[in-house]
Amino acid sequence: MEQLLQQIEVYRREIEAYNTNGADGAEQFRITYLGSKGIVKSLMGEMKQVPAEKKKEFGQILNDFKQFTEDRYNSLKENAADDKQVAASAIDLSLPGDEIPVGSRHPISMMRNRIVSIFQRLGFSVAEGPEIEDDWHNFTALNLPEHHPARDMQDTFYISTNPAWLLRTHTSNIQIREMEKGKLPLRIVCPGRVYRNETISARSHCFFHQVEGLYIDENVSFADLKQTLYFFVKEMYGDDVKVRFRPSYFPFTEPSAEMDISCLLCKGAGCNVCKYTGWLEILGCGMVHPKVLEHCNIDSEKYTGFAFGMGVERPALLKYGINDIRLFSENDVRFLKQFTGIV
Ligand code: PHE
Repeated sequence: MEQLLQQIEVYRREIEAYNTNGADGAEQFRITYLGSKGIVKSLMGEMKQVPAEKKKEFGQILNDFKQFTEDRYNSLKENAADDKQVAASAIDLSLPGDEIPVGSRHPISMMRNRIVSIFQRLGFSVAEGPEIEDDWHNFTALNLPEHHPARDMQDTFYISTNPAWLLRTHTSNIQIREMEKGKLPLRIVCPGRVYRNETISARSHCFFHQVEGLYIDENVSFADLKQTLYFFVKEMYGDDVKVRFRPSYFPFTEPSAEMDISCLLCKGAGCNVCKYTGWLEILGCGMVHPKVLEHCNIDSEKYTGFAFGMGVERPALLKYGINDIRLFSENDVRFLKQFTGIV
């Protein structure tokens, strides 16, 4: 009997220290101590070995032990249920979900996509290139050698630790890079951000966006250039808009022209947006200069091509009725979220 009492004492300590959590832990406890082959049952079985005069006392001790074990089991069960509830409440499916802000496309991206998609329908594919460029791809290959006066109009930012690198002034660098690959014919549009060392105001910034285009093949003529751009204007601004070409000068095209459309606001009557001319200048264009083709190892006797380039900011200002170019880059959400849903 002494031995049995000692044994019970050991079990008590074991039970007190029992700390396996969760429903599984409680069930394991039940099987070990209270199950049909458990410890309480087997101690009951020892009853028959206890001398008759001690049976009452032992019975009392055993009952206490059983009660103690059952209490412990109940508290383990309760803890397990609490844990389960906490776990369940962590994923309360009846709660309304957290709102994920969707954002909206930037008006410059929307305008760029619009321009690009019109040319894509004509079979142009999109080409991209680096914003940090070397002198060759931004200037020299485009027939703008060092000290050429036309470089003045495209002053830019140089990397001070290595002045051989600069921030591109137009996306024409992409056209050079694509021509250098040597795969012809070539029909590409080149969207991207460009930089110029200019005073920042409501009308100009030190960086802006362009979409330029290039088509090189045998027998490409100025008529192809005009037809392509007429189509573009019609798709972009509608049938009523008038178009005119003015002779111009770019070192990389010959002949060169600037294309104007009749003012979208005053329809040609004259207003402060078109500076009372009735016309808005929207792009520069021309036939690719033979020297540029030669710089890219293209036979200028066999191949000809046209190129054009336009800014994205100006049409976006006009379309969305914005009067300050700086708003595009201030990242003010109150400004940007107004364009949700406008394609
Ligand atoms: N690269 C010229 C610019 O940024 C635009 C242009 C491109 C003009 C192609 C003619 C032909 O000013």
